[in-house]
Amino acid sequence: MAVERTLSIVKPDAVAKNVIGEIVTRFEKAGLQVVAAKMIKLDDEKAGGFYAEHKERPFFKDLVSFMTSGPVVVQVLEGENAIAANRDLMGATNPKEAAAGTIRADFAESIDANAVHGSDSAASAEREIAYFFAADEICSR
Ligand code: PPS
Repeated sequence: MAVERTLSIVKPDAVAKNVIGEIVTRFEKAGLQVVAAKMIKLDDEKAGGFYAEHKERPFFKDLVSFMTSGPVVVQVLEGENAIAANRDLMGATNPKEAAAGTIRADFAESIDANAVHGSDSAASAEREIAYFFAADEICSR
């Protein structure tokens, strides 16, 4: 199995619920290591650029509005098969379809406010990590 890095975002709804620690604990218990982290308040330009591939989708405006509604925690997670492992921990995009015990099943309210983001491929992970972190902000252990 390959050691990978993936980008995780704890979204504004989960930050507001005060469950940052509970979410990070799930990553750590699954063997993923936090190798970079910061809390930031996204603006329209930063959130819109991050979700640029969805800019023609009907939900794009609401997505940017939600992602700028409060602080988020962006992290780089590292570990074996980190991209798929993180997505397994997150559960389905729509929390109503998320498997029991996943982050979204436990902490998310709706498809619009679904607690976490995780890169969906190696190419996305590379782009998304570079979107938020300079190389010298990532501390492999
Ligand atoms: S898709 O349809 O497969 O491209 O969608 P997906 O990549 O799973 O999700 C796109 C991101 O948009 C957020 N979002 C919504 N998706 C679908 N429908 C609605 N109404 C919606 N509202 C917001 C969704 O949470 C995904 O965000 P990330 O941060 O990538 O998980």
